[in-house]
Amino acid sequence: MTDTDTVRIRLTVDGRSVEVTSGTTVAAALAIAGVSGSRLSVEGEPREALCGMGVCQECRVTIDGRAHVLACQTLCRDGQRVQTRNGTVHA
Ligand code: FES
Repeated sequence: MTDTDTVRIRLTVDGRSVEVTSGTTVAAALAIAGVSGSRLSVEGEPREALCGMGVCQECRVTIDGRAHVLACQTLCRDGQRVQTRNGTVHA
């Protein structure tokens, strides 16, 4: 794949439009969007991606209405809607 073959994908993260390249995971899109925190623990503590390989479950988000999807194991798709439970945007 060359730079000219790069496919741009646009999705929303907590209502904010984000553009990424094909092959980008949702966890990476959260970082690109400046969002830290994917969910809250049962004690109400903010949690975010830790292992990046599908083990820790800390990166769970809601994607297109489906809850508890692992952001680190899911590739971005055009038009996708990602919602965090405690996404904090850092400017
Ligand atoms: S970051 Fe650990 S399961 Fe996704």
